[in-house]
Amino acid sequence: MSLNKAPNNNVFYRSQNWHYPKIESGQGVYLIGEDGKRYIDGCSGSAVANIGHGNKEVAEFAKKQIERIAFTHLSRWTVDVIEECASKVASWCPGDLNHVYFVSGGSEAVETAIKMARQYYVERDGEQSSKWKVISKWHSYHGATFGALSVTGTIGRRKIYDPMLTGYPKINQFYHYRNPWGAQTLYETSILAAKELETEILRHGAQNIAAFITEPIIGSAAPGVHPDRIYFDMVREICNKYDILLIMDEVMAGSGRSGATMASNIFNVKPDIIAVAKGLSSGYTPLGAAVCTEEIFDTIMVKGSGNFIHGHTYASNPLSCAIAYKVMEIIEREQYIENGRVMGEYLREKLEHLYKYPIVGDIRGIGLMHGIEFVKNKKTKEPFDSKVLLSSKINNACMEEGLVLYPGGGSANGKGDHVLIAPPINITKNEIDILFDKLEHGIKKVSKDVFNNNW
Ligand SMILES: Cc1ncc(COP(=O)(O)O)c(C=O)c1O
Repeated sequence: MSLNKAPNNNVFYRSQNWHYPKIESGQGVYLIGEDGKRYIDGCSGSAVANIGHGNKEVAEFAKKQIERIAFTHLSRWTVDVIEECASKVASWCPGDLNHVYFVSGGSEAVETAIKMARQYYVERDGEQSSKWKVISKWHSYHGATFGALSVTGTIGRRKIYDPMLTGYPKINQFYHYRNPWGAQTLYETSILAAKELETEILRHGAQNIAAFITEPIIGSAAPGVHPDRIYFDMVREICNKYDILLIMDEVMAGSGRSGATMASNIFNVKPDIIAVAKGLSSGYTPLGAAVCTEEIFDTIMVKGSGNFIHGHTYASNPLSCAIAYKVMEIIEREQYIENGRVMGEYLREKLEHLYKYPIVGDIRGIGLMHGIEFVKNKKTKEPFDSKVLLSSKINNACMEEGLVLYPGGGSANGKGDHVLIAPPINITKNEIDILFDKLEHGIKKVSKDVFNNNW
């Protein structure tokens, strides 16, 4: 088997340049290959498998649900597990975000949030409402479908589809390490980033803006990047002032990953709509949701037309809702969110030691969502040339050690390398130690390779 080629079968893999080791099973934080090799899942797939792999309680519960009822269409029926799951999701969200529209994943959740925002203004102000634009940011990822990709600010993911996307306005991210203002502190970066929102609203006219979308902690676009709390204080105030909805994309940072049920709670901000997915069902089934306030629900569904002009076949799939309910119940019962918060702090302390390696430029994160950004020159923050394939090298070196990370790049003007570290939130201290040792070995090996032992 070639190490750099996808297997020759009927699967349309993501890349032809990866050898796709075959996984036989998963146990806790480990993935086990068919050759018996054990890998620590240091990124939970892509911040998905929050309670780890092979959970028997979830498996048994899922079996019972399949035997009972696997599918009903939301246009006609409801099922107790859908209602119970919605109630639990609402209880994890701040304030009066009480109304949960289930979908199948993160992109659908973002699409739903955008359409909900538009319909809210149409129901409130009439069909002549000019409020439709959604302001978003560079260095962000919100999904692969056209609406979600239109608000995404990662150039590499947009480039070839650009002519087909909606031209929503984009502002700068609260990306302190590479902030465009020369700000010296995260606090200052956060203030300047928030001020850009007001400037952009005024440029387009508030009467044309429906919503502002942001992640609370950045995922794949610049992993672990987060603002100071002042950012969300200001953003909330600006959105209120100009009558604009705040959509929080918690697809990656939500569902316990940040050390709170939703990362909005960490920043003490109440968005108008939250998009969730990924960890919501911990990967045991595909599920996402857009959760909105009483005001939005009331305007569309009670005082308004009573019909949300939107829908997917698998919206509120009872099997997915049942599984997600069980996952959330286990997280609450076992206090995994608290565990993730404590383990996140422990991991963060350990990660600080990696600054001694010449390629480690920036380490940031909250809870169990950390990012490391690699650079060629720490002083100038110059990234490696794309041909070096630095993040792939880190990925391969760690895979050899038995650790899976989520590599990526492009946040330094299309160049740059980073990894996301986001293990299951039920990870133990001993497992963090093992994860860290493997990560350090991988980084040390690549540092030696790229600098020919000269550092
Ligand atoms: C913040 C964020 N939003 C939306 C999405 C899209 O989710 P999905 O891949 O489930 O469609 C992702 C996926 O990585 C994400 O990280």
